[in-house]
Amino acid sequence: MARALITGITGQDGQHLAEFLHSKGYEVFGMIKGQNNARAELLRDEFPYVELVSGDLTDLPSLVSTLERAQPTEIYNLGAISFVHFSWIQAELTANTTGLGVLRMLEAIRMVGGAQNNPMRFYQASSSEMFGKVREMPQTELTPFHPRSPYGCAKVFGHDITVNYRESYGMYACSGILFNHEGPRRGLEFVTRKISNAVARIKLGVQQDISLGNLDAKRDWGYAGDYVKAMWLMLQQDEPDDYVVATGETHSIEEFLELAFAEVGIADWHPYVTQDPKFFRPAEVDLLIGDPTKAKTKLGWTPEVNFPELVKMMVENDLRIESAKLHR
Ligand code: NAP
Ligand code: GDD
Repeated sequence: MARALITGITGQDGQHLAEFLHSKGYEVFGMIKGQNNARAELLRDEFPYVELVSGDLTDLPSLVSTLERAQPTEIYNLGAISFVHFSWIQAELTANTTGLGVLRMLEAIRMVGGAQNNPMRFYQASSSEMFGKVREMPQTELTPFHPRSPYGCAKVFGHDITVNYRESYGMYACSGILFNHEGPRRGLEFVTRKISNAVARIKLGVQQDISLGNLDAKRDWGYAGDYVKAMWLMLQQDEPDDYVVATGETHSIEEFLELAFAEVGIADWHPYVTQDPKFFRPAEVDLLIGDPTKAKTKLGWTPEVNFPELVKMMVENDLRIESAKLHR
């Protein structure tokens, strides 16, 4: 039986990937940090088939023992400090976890699995944030990086060290350069879920308005459930490689607001939205749009959920959650 280890199991992608790999018949191990992680109970309830193993990307010995315990054939390194705004607040922790954490995992693989012809295949969760102040449009696997945040800088290191270990030691190591992907499991700190949740609460009369930062930024937003399939496909190829995963469309925060409010019958969102300087960033990524041609042609991957469907799915989910809270 194929065995997969997922770091970042408590996060959005970790949950989608666990579900997907389980449906493919994998034995799934999830690395979880902390002595009493508040999300462990939720995981045990929703994903009883995932075996949780204690480990932290900032602690090499724990990565070694996690690999010894799980003996995975595939490792998906999704664990990270992933909130860009927070990466300015705790920049060193971000560099240590999101950047050096990748190096530690690669070293742990070398220690446990041996260097040459390593049977453990490795996936690194690289990010479109690495393109930052974009040098070309749309962005491809060959577009130069220009990160705009401590998070983006850490991801560039994680990406480069993954490529370097592949080239240095012949490891089967892939980097998926994923553009923004969202869904009902998205954390409330990210703009899409912050909006879908606020829209539901405004509709139900428990919140008056929503305060945001820069509304002009544009992102290439896809659905997380589609994107984890691309991660898996990358590890099923004869040769390891890097791929951009994106929809090829870009939309502004204003367009997201428009669709989300329309979903609850509010045609003009302006009276409900204020802007607060505290949500602006020291340096912004203005526009991202990916070119997924390589993923489409080589992996046969294509996104299934489009932008309006994604917004609808998120608002409907938050309406369900928030109205259940009201009727408790
Ligand atoms: P997420 O929901 O924020 O999840 C991040 C996960 O990392 C959580 O499970 C968290 O665990 C874990 N983590 C944090 N610090 C850790 C540490 N020191 N050791 C081990 N695990 C740690 O992120 P996501 O949206 O699922 O994204 C998954 C990965 O893809 C991340 O690496 C992210 O940077 C990258 N990515 C995401 C997107 C996107 O649009 N979602 C796009 C490109 C790349 P706790 O719950 O215990 O804190
Ligand atoms: N979070 C947030 N909150 N963002 C806001 C807000 C707000 O109140 N107001 C405006 N924004 C803008 C941000 O300035 C940014 O331009 C955009 O909304 C998206 O912000 P996030 O949803 O926080 O995502 P992100 O694009 O910075 O980062 C996400 O995608 C990356 C891939 O490009 C994260 O998932 C990263 O981990 C991921 O690598």
